[in-house]
Amino acid sequence: MNVILKRTGIVVGCLAIVVAASAAGVFVGSNRAIGRKYVIAPETVAIPADSISIARGKHLARAITKCVHCHGDNLGGRVLVENGAMGRWVVANITRGKGGVAGMLTDADIVRAVRHAVAPDGRKLLQMPAESFENLSAEDLGAIIAYVRSVPPVDNELPPTTIGPVARALILANKLPIYRADLITHTRPIPAPTPAGPTAEYGKYIASVGGCIGCHGATLSGGKIADGDPAWPPAANLTPTGLAKYTEADFTTVLRTGKRQNGLQLHDAMPWRMTKEMTDDEMKAVWLFLRTVPPKEFGHH
Ligand code: HEC
Ligand code: HEC
Repeated sequence: MNVILKRTGIVVGCLAIVVAASAAGVFVGSNRAIGRKYVIAPETVAIPADSISIARGKHLARAITKCVHCHGDNLGGRVLVENGAMGRWVVANITRGKGGVAGMLTDADIVRAVRHAVAPDGRKLLQMPAESFENLSAEDLGAIIAYVRSVPPVDNELPPTTIGPVARALILANKLPIYRADLITHTRPIPAPTPAGPTAEYGKYIASVGGCIGCHGATLSGGKIADGDPAWPPAANLTPTGLAKYTEADFTTVLRTGKRQNGLQLHDAMPWRMTKEMTDDEMKAVWLFLRTVPPKEFGHH
């Protein structure tokens, strides 16, 4: 064999070993990151049985905490993402139907899933936004669980979740925060209730449990949504600087129709199909709260 070819062969061979070794490294390392288990003591909340509370739970699960945005209108679950790079991300069927988990979960298991993004066996749950939901009051959490328990069974057997190679590398680099269990302290007690009404205080509660802060950022100044689809536009600046040209009416129009003042339709990453079900008082509360946050330039913390 010609010396140059032989050398090239050795270089290519070495490169292949390096690539394979680092891929194996990513696989082993990410398995450790993904496989980390949490021990969370059961927490209990009272689960109401009256129809008013169940209706309140349904409203919260749709308009405010947006459980249906991910789990589907009938809570029967779905495949959220499926491609070679990211893998197959499956949202659980949380009904009592075939393939559903409701029959296997106790109420405390559902509390753990919602507040901690952890399954009964300690496994981290993908995508469950516990950093928002840990702010739910016991009363609202109980109403949501009562609603989940009340929905008709949906038969929907889903394939297992897989985490693709690009997602693994991103998780290992701390660039894909899909496991919220890793981001919270797990020691926050269930907070005292915030009285519902058209007040800035209640608006702050909605903005936190409703994911406005989760997507628009801790200071609400907007920016890239770290765990979102890379194709999504950045979230908008909702501080007084970002909404300088907004009137309250423009704001409710966005939440009800997904359209800006100029009539331009927002990207579906902004969950207006859920926010449109917020009541007038809830919209007013969030508007009042947004007027109280410090003005920031786009993406500034
Ligand atoms: C951003 C998307 C998203 C939202 C919003 C969301 N979930 Fe989930 N949820 C998921 C995904 C994905 C899974 C499956 C996670 C896994 O298997 O790793 C899941 C799993 C669950 C489970 C199953 C836990 C288990 O042990 O198998 C329950 C119960 C649940 N969610 C309840 C809720 C409730 C109640 C809400 C609203 C308060 C909600 N979820 C909001 C994405 C979401
Ligand atoms: C899942 C992520 C997500 C959640 C949750 C979310 N938003 Fe958004 N929002 C976005 C994105 C992304 C955009 C930008 C869409 C675009 O540019 O087309 C946006 C745009 C907006 C706009 C338009 C601003 C402008 O530029 O004209 C308003 C107003 C808004 N959101 C308010 C809210 C409020 C209030 C909440 C909570 C009740 C909320 N959003 C929850 C992702 C989110």
